[in-house]
Amino acid sequence: MSDHYAVIGNPVDHSLSPQIHTAFAAQTGEDLVYEKLLAPLDSFTESVQTFFAEGGRGLNVTVPFKIEACELADALTERAAAAGAVNTLVYGESGNLLGDNTDGAGLVSDIRNNLGWTIQDKRVLLLGAGGAARGALLPLLAEHPSQLHIANRTAAKACQLADEFSHYGAMTAGGLDQLCGGFDLVINASSASLGNQLPPLPEHLFTSTGRAYDMVYGAKPTPFVHWAHELGVEAADGLGMLVGQAAEAFCLWRGVKPRVEPVLAQLRRTLTA
Ligand code: ATR
Repeated sequence: MSDHYAVIGNPVDHSLSPQIHTAFAAQTGEDLVYEKLLAPLDSFTESVQTFFAEGGRGLNVTVPFKIEACELADALTERAAAAGAVNTLVYGESGNLLGDNTDGAGLVSDIRNNLGWTIQDKRVLLLGAGGAARGALLPLLAEHPSQLHIANRTAAKACQLADEFSHYGAMTAGGLDQLCGGFDLVINASSASLGNQLPPLPEHLFTSTGRAYDMVYGAKPTPFVHWAHELGVEAADGLGMLVGQAAEAFCLWRGVKPRVEPVLAQLRRTLTA
């Protein structure tokens, strides 16, 4: 019988994860089925327990359950503990649940491997101080940027985040209204694009070879990607991050690293068709 996996969320209908993992399974010859699991807002724990009691092997966790999943896991990877959020649950041999967070690794691998951009020794600006920004911090620091600055609409939240992560590496923080230019890479981890909004940003944010990355993706360029293009700045959306985090989760579950590029290309075609 095939091994069972699923993405659990509410809502979950829109999720592209089944398409991605089914493509990974076909590519690597792994025998698995991957479904969508809609959990009632007040019974995430029960839904997870039922899934694993019925033989499920692993779950991806999406909105709004990533923090609950972190609390439910029996053990956490360092990056999940730092993020305070879990997007991948692995059912261990002894019946314990390991929680990981592969979002930041997906982001970094998209930037490095798919886009071919460098983070090491670059001045990096991270916009936002919510869950998405938090999940990206450790993997970004591991790439050794020359500077990592967190800027948020509410400055105090950026400063608090930088403070909390200060023992992992040096970073600075402040408000969007205090931003100066000179960044090689600007990553939008705010949820502004989800509301079709652009954070209030100065135009002289980028170096002449600066690049922009939006963690949000869509059929059309996000407001942030559109803004960067208007400035003549190379920009990418977060579709590659989505496929990258899925590849990390797949590897955790199956011990096989799938190739991201063909699945990303297929997904882009589907999205823009
Ligand atoms: P997520 O888990 O997606 O990160 P979140 O924890 O609600 O979501 O955080 C949303 C982030 O996007 C916050 O940093 C928020 O800024 P505030 O802390 O000031 O609320 C930021 N954000 C949302 N909409 C924004 C907008 N229109 N412009 C700038 N920042 C925005």
